[in-house]
Amino acid sequence: MKKITNIGVFTSGGDAPGMNAAIRAVVRTAIYENIQVTGIYRGYQGMIDADFVNMNRRSVSSIIQHGGTILKSARCLEFKTKEGRQKAYDNIKAHGIDALVAIGGDGTFTGADLFSKEFEIPVMCIPGTIDNDLYGSDYTLGYDTANNTVIEAIDKIRDTASSHSRVFFVEVMGRDSGCIALNAGVGGGAEAILMPEVDSGVTELFDELALAESREKSSMIVIIAEGDQNGGAYNVAKIVKEKFDHLDIKVSILGHLQRGGSPSSFDRVLATRMGFKAVKELMAGNSRATVGLRGTAIVTTPLEEALSRKEFKLDEELLAIANIMNK
Ligand code: F6P
Repeated sequence: MKKITNIGVFTSGGDAPGMNAAIRAVVRTAIYENIQVTGIYRGYQGMIDADFVNMNRRSVSSIIQHGGTILKSARCLEFKTKEGRQKAYDNIKAHGIDALVAIGGDGTFTGADLFSKEFEIPVMCIPGTIDNDLYGSDYTLGYDTANNTVIEAIDKIRDTASSHSRVFFVEVMGRDSGCIALNAGVGGGAEAILMPEVDSGVTELFDELALAESREKSSMIVIIAEGDQNGGAYNVAKIVKEKFDHLDIKVSILGHLQRGGSPSSFDRVLATRMGFKAVKELMAGNSRATVGLRGTAIVTTPLEEALSRKEFKLDEELLAIANIMNK
């Protein structure tokens, strides 16, 4: 087994709170183990542009509490081409980088898997996305913080909704995932929750709203994941208005504020454990795998498995509970 001397760390795809804490853990663990660390700016784009920075313990001082990513992020089309990846490899080789830690989501993992196979460079991934839509970890970095952000927003919306006896359609992030919608919907006491994975249609929503009305609720909040099959909050609000013309309906799209903010205690500790584990696994000769939390343990899963398993990640029990709490 070749000894690793210089780990390149980068963040890619949508940013998520906790990414900085993960970078910090990678840097400090590696330096403790006498391994150099190179920060790669803007993910795969930075590899292609040779946008590198040599990191030391102080490069990551006072970042654990900040959202976003000090290494910046990007979605890089050029890396999808063989020429782009060759350029990236030539640059990291010239800089002496002999292993990688990739922090990001599905697209980041796909790129890391391909790159590692093509150029035989060891790589470990850390799941960082607020969507919580990756196999191999019960929780992805940023998911807990995003849930807290959304719940805080729902509480505020509830204040004004109750004061005016209004119905609010609140759209949350999740292009393919209803995890935030379900979790924050339950935590925020939503009257109905629409998610991409559940083909509930609007009839069920009509029933839920009619029931809430019959109970003389002073407000109603419907949480809609952006990827819901009924076409987003504005569309659902329009359909509902056609049937319930008497309702005072408002729409609120929470958008990118869900991606920012100081990471929660849970995300900071999880990120630190994951960053530590990623370096340790590279040192032990593991590669092409993701670290993740299963139960209370930090484990690894081969990337090939993580990428091929598109499992239903919504908590079935929580789904059932949500359907009782809103009755
Ligand atoms: O980070 C994941 C995610 O938040 C999705 O839920 C959302 O659709 C997407 O990112 C939007 O990201 P961007 O605006 O950066 O393309």
